[in-house]
Amino acid sequence: MSKLALFGGAKTLGDGRDLKSSWPQKGMDEALCEYTGAKYARCVSSGTAALISGLFAAGCGPGDEVLTVAYTWVATVAAILRVNAVPIFVDIDPQTFCMDAEDARRKITPQTKAILPVDFYGHPAPIPELMELAEQHGIVVIEDACQASTGEINGVKLGNIAHFTAFSWSGKPIYSNTGGGAYLTNDRSLYERALLAGQHPTVIQGVATDPEVLKYASMGGTGDNMRAVGAGSAMEQLLDADVRTNARIRNCAYLTGKLSQLPGITPPYVRPGYKHVYHYYTCQWDADYWGISRDRFCEALNAEGVYAVAYINDANYQFTPESKKLQAGGPIHLRTIFQERNLYGRGCPFQCPHVKNPPVYRKGDLPVSEEMCEQEFSLAQGHLSPPCDEQDMQLMIDAITKVLDNIDELKEE
Ligand SMILES: Cc1ncc(COP(=O)(O)O)c(C=O)c1O
Repeated sequence: MSKLALFGGAKTLGDGRDLKSSWPQKGMDEALCEYTGAKYARCVSSGTAALISGLFAAGCGPGDEVLTVAYTWVATVAAILRVNAVPIFVDIDPQTFCMDAEDARRKITPQTKAILPVDFYGHPAPIPELMELAEQHGIVVIEDACQASTGEINGVKLGNIAHFTAFSWSGKPIYSNTGGGAYLTNDRSLYERALLAGQHPTVIQGVATDPEVLKYASMGGTGDNMRAVGAGSAMEQLLDADVRTNARIRNCAYLTGKLSQLPGITPPYVRPGYKHVYHYYTCQWDADYWGISRDRFCEALNAEGVYAVAYINDANYQFTPESKKLQAGGPIHLRTIFQERNLYGRGCPFQCPHVKNPPVYRKGDLPVSEEMCEQEFSLAQGHLSPPCDEQDMQLMIDAITKVLDNIDELKEE
């Protein structure tokens, strides 16, 4: 009879005879590390939860400034407000629609605690420049890669470049049937502290080694863990994520080949060395050239059956029976929260005693972001990814050409 392991005998399992894990969350965490090369990954309940975890881990709180963009989906900025930090908006580069690193440099103050750039529409933000800037100032880059989870810069996968990266599985390049998201980092300390933002206390207890994290383990448990069924479905997606992304890139190259022959429409730009994964295919519309507004052009395209949207102004309006245009009113710094600056009725987080320089958000502060909101129109991933192929791309080109051929009829008196 063999001796019990409890009393020093050999274990029944171990040394290569371990049970396989059927725990999808753990499987997906490991698969993400393998896919991106990042040391640590953790699936969470949403991309927003991943961003909040990063801000929390970086210690962002009342009175701290976080540099971000106003040209984004609202969750980026909502995450900053959720930790009671102050969003300071940086303008964007008109070619990539992502944070302008030079403007970020100008907006750093002693209160800046983190930089939160967005890989918008699937084009990676200038993370190497922002990392250099952050390291000069001893602050953290939290990359919102929610729209670009399969993206790369100079052959390195996103998730393995910034200090901390957030992915979303909600209708994105990698998606799951329950939404969800993940955070990735090479920094053990950020990884452990991020757990405190919402993971189950028993997980924190099991994973963390830092006594400063362990002592607060019981503050977790706010339900930000990823649901197992969603993790399983995201993992399936991960297996052929690059195949789907590369097919979408080929489809978009076809669109660009055709659209670049037309006047008054600027197709998307891709920075050399950057892998744009086209969560959206976004062009600029020259209203002066064509004599009709971008909105009128989108209206005509929609009537032809092509889903084109003014992403920022209409807050990603989906053309489904339930959805209505949000009438969001342009870039985020011009929306009500930032004009009133009184989110909780007590001035926080903009004007509380912790804030050294209460911010004011004005029209004209971000000229490129404001202008791009009026010019861009976007085609969504759903009509760019396989099974869509060149024939489908040609159908969209046919619809665009038809609208342009009949442009005079669209001109309003
Ligand atoms: C740029 C950006 N950031 C954050 C998020 C938030 O992700 P989730 O919906 O998974 O919370 C999204 C989702 O659309 C996004 O597009």
